[in-house]
Amino acid sequence: MSCFRAENLSLHFGGLKAVDSVSFAVEKGEILSIIGPNGAGKSSIFNLISRLYEPTSGKLYFEDQDITAAPPYDIAKLGIARTFQNIELFENATVLSNLLVGRHRHSTTTLWQELLFLPNVRRDEKAHRRRVEQVIDFLDLAAHRDKLISGLPYGVRKVIELARALCTEPKLILLDEPSSGLNVEETDDMSFWIRDMKTELGITVLMVEHDMTLVNRVSDRVIALNYGRVLAMGAPAEVQAHPDVVAAYLGT
Ligand SMILES: Nc1ncnc2c1ncn2[C@@H]1O[C@H](COP(=O)(O)OP(=O)(O)O)[C@@H](O)[C@H]1O
Ligand SMILES: [Mg+2]
Repeated sequence: MSCFRAENLSLHFGGLKAVDSVSFAVEKGEILSIIGPNGAGKSSIFNLISRLYEPTSGKLYFEDQDITAAPPYDIAKLGIARTFQNIELFENATVLSNLLVGRHRHSTTTLWQELLFLPNVRRDEKAHRRRVEQVIDFLDLAAHRDKLISGLPYGVRKVIELARALCTEPKLILLDEPSSGLNVEETDDMSFWIRDMKTELGITVLMVEHDMTLVNRVSDRVIALNYGRVLAMGAPAEVQAHPDVVAAYLGT
């Protein structure tokens, strides 16, 4: 059983085929990267998986369950989390508050119970805090726990966005350009965290990335896209040497 599968997935904007009959599977426990020039359809695939867009045609499966018609809230509940190409955090809240928001899908208490603060609410709250503290430790964020997002440098915010996704305890995480805007050293750290997510937390990773050093360092397999279509799929070196991929990057 694969972790996630797309079957003949298409997304059209009028006459433009942003995603054009794309099929692939992400195996449990692997790191799969999607590469391709600007406008290839990479972010669109993520937006289809997280249900921000409706596919024009095709099917999506999570652990063999058809999720093509599932609403975004169900996607999160099933265990799919994502980060965005441009950071999306609550600017005027602390790091800790932003991470507790990531726990929302695990809330089992009702509003009335919360207002009355019944014992299981306290139990829930403790479990949330515990997971958030684990993620803070895992990503080395202790020094920033009580700071406001608005005052933090870009590199740290990027890690916090990753932390928020991890707080939902996902089975599958979608990372949209995790290295964008990061310097060499920060990209290095990011590559270790991505590997650790796989090896220590057992999370399956689907990643869109343009930094080939990062792609080569962490990926088990790579998919190359251009104009919404799959050009090649396989081991990182093999895909990058594929003549169609070379041509796409050279713009011929
Ligand atoms: N909401 C939208 N409306 C119209 N066109 C869009 C929209 N989103 C993306 N596109 C187009 O779809 C194509 C693929 O975009 P995108 O998935 O963002 O590419 P990538 O992430 O690979 O750079 C591009 O030509 C882009 O202009
Ligand atoms: Mg993109």
